[in-house]
Amino acid sequence: MSLEIVVAKIWVDDNWYEVKPDQSLLQACLELGFDLPYFCWHPALGSVGACRQCAVKQFKDENDAQGRLVMSCMTPAAEGTRISVKNPDAAAFRTGVIEGLMMNHPHDCPVCDEGGHCHLQDMTVMTGHNYRRYRFKKRTFRNQYLGPLLNHEMNRCIQCYRCVRYYQDYAGGDDLQAFVLRDTVFFGRQEDGVLQNEFAGNLDEVCPTGVFTDKTVKGHYTRKWDLQMSPSVCVHCGVGCSTSAGERYGMLRRIVNRYNGEVNGYFLCDRGRFGYEFVNSERRVRQTLSRQDGRLKALPKAKAIEQLRDVLKGNDKVIGIGSPRASLESNFALRALVGPDRFFNGMSDESSHLVSTMAEILRQGPARSPSLREIENSDAVLILGEDVSNTAPRIALALRQSVRQQPMETTDKLKIPRWLDHAVREAVQHGAGPLFIATPNATRLDSVATITHRASPDNMARLGFAVAHALDHEAPSTPELSEDLREMAERIAQALKVAKRPLVIAGSSLKSEAIIQAAANVARALIKQGKTAALSFTMPEANSLGVALLGGGNLSAAFKAVEDGAADTVVILENDLYRRAPLRAVDNLMQAARHIIVLDHLMTPTASKAEFVLPAGTFAESDGTFVNNEGRAQRFFQAYVPKDDIQASWHWLIDMLKVTGNPEASSWNVLDDVVSATAGAVPALERITEAAPSAKFRIAGEKVPRAPHRYSGRTAMLANVNVSEPKPPADPDSALAFSMEGAPTQPPGALTPFFWAPGWNSIQSVNKFQSEINGALRGGDPGVRLIEPPQGGSALYFSGPQKPFQPRSDEWLLVPLYHVFGSEELSSQSPAIAQLAPKPYVALNAADAERLQLQDGAEVELSLAGNAHKLPVVVQPDLPDGIAGIPAGLPPLGDSGLPDWTRFSRS
Ligand code: SF4
Ligand code: SF4
Ligand code: FES
Repeated sequence: MSLEIVVAKIWVDDNWYEVKPDQSLLQACLELGFDLPYFCWHPALGSVGACRQCAVKQFKDENDAQGRLVMSCMTPAAEGTRISVKNPDAAAFRTGVIEGLMMNHPHDCPVCDEGGHCHLQDMTVMTGHNYRRYRFKKRTFRNQYLGPLLNHEMNRCIQCYRCVRYYQDYAGGDDLQAFVLRDTVFFGRQEDGVLQNEFAGNLDEVCPTGVFTDKTVKGHYTRKWDLQMSPSVCVHCGVGCSTSAGERYGMLRRIVNRYNGEVNGYFLCDRGRFGYEFVNSERRVRQTLSRQDGRLKALPKAKAIEQLRDVLKGNDKVIGIGSPRASLESNFALRALVGPDRFFNGMSDESSHLVSTMAEILRQGPARSPSLREIENSDAVLILGEDVSNTAPRIALALRQSVRQQPMETTDKLKIPRWLDHAVREAVQHGAGPLFIATPNATRLDSVATITHRASPDNMARLGFAVAHALDHEAPSTPELSEDLREMAERIAQALKVAKRPLVIAGSSLKSEAIIQAAANVARALIKQGKTAALSFTMPEANSLGVALLGGGNLSAAFKAVEDGAADTVVILENDLYRRAPLRAVDNLMQAARHIIVLDHLMTPTASKAEFVLPAGTFAESDGTFVNNEGRAQRFFQAYVPKDDIQASWHWLIDMLKVTGNPEASSWNVLDDVVSATAGAVPALERITEAAPSAKFRIAGEKVPRAPHRYSGRTAMLANVNVSEPKPPADPDSALAFSMEGAPTQPPGALTPFFWAPGWNSIQSVNKFQSEINGALRGGDPGVRLIEPPQGGSALYFSGPQKPFQPRSDEWLLVPLYHVFGSEELSSQSPAIAQLAPKPYVALNAADAERLQLQDGAEVELSLAGNAHKLPVVVQPDLPDGIAGIPAGLPPLGDSGLPDWTRFSRS
């Protein structure tokens, strides 16, 4: 039996250190706190030894005085290794390398958007290269238009190749290349055009220079050191990636990745990075509005509260409609205002039912909901019904890494360390582990899938049930299964069965309960076979799971309460009902209710019909908790105190609770009061208090500063208003301060607004915050898991699937098709994202289009939820017979009531 060495002793500059032997010397040195420069290595991408920047001197033994230069990123931290980082030869080599890299660099830091958070600047200072000797003409390039998200400035390139390695190898993109001509290399597209990969925005952080920068910040650019930042959570899907939100002059300026080892790691999707501009939208509601003479007009906040008191106090006909895009605290405060029986969760009827079903399955177990890190480490995956690249994008990026797990077992046997990226990829070639995708239409993950299966929702569920049955014959079988499908199910079952960490993914995007049940059956069958299978459900919105755990009736029940006269006053929280229910049903509610009070960020169609509209703070202007699809409660904090009347919805609701004399909230004043009350009242949410330290948390008696200590201009920025420097606003709701003053040490992960360390201004400074490189943040990653399957959880199977889908001769089953840009409500209001959203269309397969004598682009008429639409046809060869699709969430179509049968007529 061989004993695995878990610790290696290495000698670095006169001292022995204990490190993990399965890493490179560069990683080990960074983990030990040494400042060692690098460019081509990236903790998520591994080592290729391209830039030669990370050189150290290695010595054979204690008698070797001469040593030899090695690249620390290419050398394992093996037991007994002796190196010097400080050695003058190594230091001179590193200085020489950077001098070479900087020869053609334009030195345009003052006008470069990367300046102030640039890895190249940091490394140049670190190596001591501070004098330019090269006196000749520099090489220059023509820049490209790469779309509305990223700017391109090729002259700044240092040829580290990180961009193409990330874009092609890690994110699966194929339209960014390295083009070589004589002695120049150009990193860009074959021709100008929008970068096609939905993770392209990460190039802003992956490129160590200012070649790829965030184009959306150009109009309101601010240096990193001048931003006031907060630890935040992305609001644009149910994955809940950690972000850092930066403000200046009362405006949200940019979103960058906030490393969270268990969730998003180093990367965001483009919807999350660039979807923030809705916060600065002209459609924002900034003042308290009430309807006067038929029009919404501003009125003072205090007056509005008085009028709301008159409407609400003693009124026993008030109901509240919550929202899966609002925080737990705001939803709970609304529930307190109206009472638990009169609180409705704000999800569409189907969504409410399906999200609750998924929550219940996860709570019952036995399959555990994995973190994104665990998804990345899965070694066989079955996806039923979800186009995750569009519904939960960051999961798709994790799955691209998961398919490498099985092939990398071969390289483990060859003793190639996993961080030796080029060698691993050479050995693996294009090998990919098992990934099975069943969706109605082609997905961007298909290129790495083992099998893709295009089917109707019912048929996908049938496949899932068949896989479960193939794994365990006690699981219900699938009637009328074709021989092809039986073989496919058996093949999938076999791959999942032999895997070490199998994973099943499903969700609610096709509104099919059978798909969710089939996925649960597969996971349960695997567990009955003794596997530690994971079950991941995508969630439609940032807090869908949180609201499901909070409880509350569905929208139809709310509409009925008004229709029946049991309610005549409706408080609607951060929710555009027109996106969730048929137009007529919402119109009827608006007409039947005596008072409609809306709290929201934007002037939505729902808000525009209200009697009162209260300006609600977005994620950037308020604090709260979301529960992501994993079941992880995560806290977000406001980046700044908004101007005008804007405040957190839960603040508005506390105001209403107080003026109506509601005893429940008499002692509620700050966020922690509402968090504690929520945790105390709802057992499923009991642990949300642990999502982040409370407002009382202090480090050596001080709060955590939101701004870097170099933040400038505090005295001058508002001098046109008042020459005296204003006192920074107090923040009673969190342990963060609106200031650059505060605790100078590292805060816990959940309270880290930005990553910065001495000599490390770029986002790469995260290595100083991690307990191990690419591992957890010191003190643990942010958030707390609320759902753990009980020991020996339910192994009962859901009963069998329906009959096979039967196409009809003159009708099509219309299903929603999701788009990373356009399907989500808030990001669609951000100009750059809106540019990339598709126009409404109807998708048909080629045979159906031909049968209808329709060509690509031809216009057809169809009826949707009682409304007629004329739409251009897009022929999509992958769609199964009898299935048509429309883009989900795209006004004016809406996807409420889908899937549904519809007819087409030529217009
Ligand atoms: S564009 Fe950036 S990431 Fe790509 S090679 Fe140049 S410096 Fe490196
Ligand atoms: S995957 Fe979802 S949560 Fe993560 S950045 Fe993208 S939209 Fe935001
Ligand atoms: S970081 Fe080691 S060679 Fe580039």
